[in-house]
Amino acid sequence: MRLLTLEFACLLAAAAPISVAAQYTWKNVKFGGGGGFVPGIVFNPTQKGVVYARTDIGGLYKLNSDDSWTPLTDAIAHDKTWHIKRHNWGVDAVATDPIDPARVYAALGMYTHSWDPDNGAIARSSDGGATWSTFDLPFKVGGNMPGRGMGERLAIDPNNNHIIYFGARSGNGLWKSTNQGQSFEKVTSFTSVGTYVADPNDSSGYNSDIQGLAWIEFDSTSALVGGATSRIFVGVADKGESVFYSEDAGQTWSAVPNQPQGFLPHKGKFQPSEKALYLTYSDTSGPYDGGNGTVQRFDIASSTWTDITPVSGEDLFFGFGGLALDMQKPGTLMVVTLNLWWPDAQIYRSVDSGKTWSVIWEWGAYPDRTLYYDYSTPKAPWIITSRGADDTKELGWMIESLEINPLDSNHWLYGTGLTIYGGHDLTNWDTTHKVTIESLADGIEETSVQALASVPGGPALLSATGDVGGYTHDNDLTKSPEVAWINPSYATNTGVDYAGNKPQSAVRVGNSGSEGNQIAVSSDGGKTWAELQGGVAGTSGGKVALSADADSALWSASSGVVVVRSGSQSQVTSLPTGAAIASDKRNGTVFYAGHGNRFFLSVDSGSTFTSVSTLGSAQAVRDVVVNPTLAGDVWVSTDDGIFHSTDYGKTFKKTDKSVTDAYALALGKGPGKYWNVYGVISRNGSPIELFMSNDTGKNWNKIQGTRGFGAAGGIFLAASKDTSGLVFVGTNGRGAFYGLPG
Ligand SMILES: *[C@@H]1O[C@H](CO)[C@@H](O)[C@H](O)[C@H]1NC(C)=O
Ligand SMILES: *[C@@H]1O[C@H](CO)[C@@H](O)[C@H](O)[C@H]1NC(C)=O
Ligand SMILES: *[C@@H]1O[C@H](CO)[C@@H](O)[C@H](O)[C@H]1NC(C)=O
Ligand SMILES: *[C@@H]1O[C@H](CO)[C@@H](O)[C@H](O)[C@H]1NC(C)=O
Repeated sequence: MRLLTLEFACLLAAAAPISVAAQYTWKNVKFGGGGGFVPGIVFNPTQKGVVYARTDIGGLYKLNSDDSWTPLTDAIAHDKTWHIKRHNWGVDAVATDPIDPARVYAALGMYTHSWDPDNGAIARSSDGGATWSTFDLPFKVGGNMPGRGMGERLAIDPNNNHIIYFGARSGNGLWKSTNQGQSFEKVTSFTSVGTYVADPNDSSGYNSDIQGLAWIEFDSTSALVGGATSRIFVGVADKGESVFYSEDAGQTWSAVPNQPQGFLPHKGKFQPSEKALYLTYSDTSGPYDGGNGTVQRFDIASSTWTDITPVSGEDLFFGFGGLALDMQKPGTLMVVTLNLWWPDAQIYRSVDSGKTWSVIWEWGAYPDRTLYYDYSTPKAPWIITSRGADDTKELGWMIESLEINPLDSNHWLYGTGLTIYGGHDLTNWDTTHKVTIESLADGIEETSVQALASVPGGPALLSATGDVGGYTHDNDLTKSPEVAWINPSYATNTGVDYAGNKPQSAVRVGNSGSEGNQIAVSSDGGKTWAELQGGVAGTSGGKVALSADADSALWSASSGVVVVRSGSQSQVTSLPTGAAIASDKRNGTVFYAGHGNRFFLSVDSGSTFTSVSTLGSAQAVRDVVVNPTLAGDVWVSTDDGIFHSTDYGKTFKKTDKSVTDAYALALGKGPGKYWNVYGVISRNGSPIELFMSNDTGKNWNKIQGTRGFGAAGGIFLAASKDTSGLVFVGTNGRGAFYGLPG
């Protein structure tokens, strides 16, 4: 994504230094394999190869012909207030137009409770997702809320693509557009808004919000009424009556008679040749749970329900998520356990409309299992190499989306909590009963980055990430690592740093609950790790700084600041909880910290800190970074701009008065004699974006172009000490990017 022209952004603010938009090229650092939950995959029913995958915090992707994916929503993640909020990378529903396959719609918004202050939007593209228009909705959309794998909540009338329905959360009911998504009106005759909430007692509002409508499905074969498809089904997150239908194109609605109750309908899909609606149900909304469920077939002509659940009795202790119909072979369908945590998910396939089923694995002589699949992850080797020794799960968990290509019975994809799996020989299931499963998420990067470090002389990048541990990239940033950070494994690493005088020494901290020591060190540039002796179980999370000589680790953990050294851990009582910290990269006894408007210095390897200066009228210190080669040279970002000291923080100068707010900072090799300074900053109150200064903060050039990097507070930076201009941007939901001038 290149900005082709130089832009002068501040022509009107004559008093401020001119801000130049420098041309930068951005690419994802390849972690590979997705790295997060893929709640929805949608195939276009009429044009082969048009496939979209939606993620809960990392936006929307489109499938390429070589099985890789292209991100589609980075430019609109930049909308409006995007720089301080982040809702446009949450996608709660996607719909691909069966009449005009170039058209695609997505429901954008992250949370329906207080975490996201904005209403949601419908994004519409008529060029396959290359460019978008967005239209605000009068309510919030919850792309990262519970029940986000139910769906799809957006549906296009297969006989009239001006008509689009959206099933809302939070008690807002059913909405209809007759102008291709530009505006929606409430369908007042549809009165069920859903009563299900995951946990009514959750005072945060996250689990106590009504999950609302789950999906909308048309009977494409039904008669037209006023140019619209007459028969429509709607599934609602409700344990009472949950499936409703209209026979008059949505004017009136009734509950489908004799329907099963006590479960939530996760998916409802119509098979036109059979004139049947298939449904999967679970007793909870997902994505992490489910202890019971059912699979049902509703025959439209006879208006009868048939229970086609593949298992019963004691064997049924999970809910069902994904549901795939083979449109080329009526009567062939697949369903999958939403969460079967041990030994692995189970996938069921039927070729007789659900009368009988076969499985993808079965027990042999315990504990052996017979697997009817081959499994590999060549595009993301770390998926296999980093699995715990006693973890038997290959097929995945949180499987809400299971799809067979409607125009190719051999091609299937399913989304999990970690990646997308699938293959190209699915019909072998019915002959040799052996299918090939691969991780097919190449190009999807949806990790939540928690911290980055770029080490002089390499490795180029150490990335601490949520849920998938973390990664070391030596030099090739385009290659998925062979292994993630293991031995020890922390599901989430929250901090990482290297030692200035011994750069092959690194430290990382994690927050995998209270499961023992959560601090690890490497002495080979992040290739291998070992527990740092002295770390105390129960201390976790936060950020970490390693002294220049690698003999002390200062850890601003969730529970307070500690220092780990010589096999023991001690509390640093002179620093407040939540202090931003850094180590001097040359002077081995010096650490820095900031909190509120105060700056602290330690000259005894972190044992004690003294408040040595104040930072203007700051109320929040966001980041402390140091000159990679010069002792005592320290930079601090605050809500009152950027401060720079060359005397160990005893005195500070504000770098540039036009910087009115600042988040992450990094120093890296520049084109001339100075280190480049990178900052996520606001200038004169303008949107917070990524800027670079090559003259120690006097002048700033915007370098993020037209792309968004998500919420300012969720961005982490690092910059190369070896390659001029190379900067790394960690995001909350779109992995890490690297940018180079040009
Ligand atoms: C909510 O709290 C009430 C009162 O403490 C309790 O009876 C109920 O079981 C709780 N519900 C859930 C779903 O935890
Ligand atoms: C699962 O649901 C069915 C249908 O409601 C019920 O008969 C069965 O007892 C449930 N199983 C468990 C373990 O609760
Ligand atoms: C490290 O910094 C402290 C504090 O400024 C100073 O007293 C000390 O002399 C420095 N050590 C070296 C080796 O420069
Ligand atoms: C610093 O950046 C500006 C704007 O991108 C550029 O014009 C200038 O040449 C750079 N300075 C050096 C020394 O390269």
